[in-house]
Amino acid sequence: MKPVIIVNFKAYERAVGKEALKLANVCYGVAGQTKAKIMISVQSSDIYMISRYVGIPVLAQHVDCLYGSYTGSINMKSVKDNGAWGTLLNHAEKRIDFNILEKTVKECKKIGLKTVVCVADINEAKKAKKFGPEFVAYEVPELIGTGRSITEAKPDSVKEFAGLFKNAKTIPLCGAGISNGKDVRTALNLGCKGVLVASAITKAKDPRKVLEEMVCR
Ligand code: G3P
Repeated sequence: MKPVIIVNFKAYERAVGKEALKLANVCYGVAGQTKAKIMISVQSSDIYMISRYVGIPVLAQHVDCLYGSYTGSINMKSVKDNGAWGTLLNHAEKRIDFNILEKTVKECKKIGLKTVVCVADINEAKKAKKFGPEFVAYEVPELIGTGRSITEAKPDSVKEFAGLFKNAKTIPLCGAGISNGKDVRTALNLGCKGVLVASAITKAKDPRKVLEEMVCR
């Protein structure tokens, strides 16, 4: 089975604004050629532009579920109406309180915005599972951006994490340091259905090559 690959553009220079559209097109191209389930998580200000041109699921990197006087917030309905298919929540670089997380997953469900809840450990994974998001992604914060894959550094934890979702609707992913096809295969062998990846793609000289290798190897 083809892995789910969520490419998180974060705010990398080569993954924002017009550059984000180029990278999104690369992801779209690889998804089309390989039939892989590739999704992209982009700056909320780029969602409209990208979702108009690119036929793969586009995610926000964070949303808020509040209405009212909240200047600077990223409203979930706004991102949905501008073309987002879903959103990351509680990423290690955008942590939120678990009570707010629960409410946000619930509110996103009501408006049909899919959620990918990020967790930093097994206890958080257990809590997040109860909220019933579409995906839970396990990322060890210290490994993010290091090129040292969670699948190599913490295989037992990844396996335990994936085991929590054996008969659940929620799909388990892992991320942090994922660098190549071997890391993706190991994630699948440990029971995850795919990965969340950023720097290996956003900083690559040839992102297409890296992504193709991740999907096809
Ligand atoms: O959201 C994915 C991310 O946090 C992992 O980053 O650069 O280690 O692939 P990276």
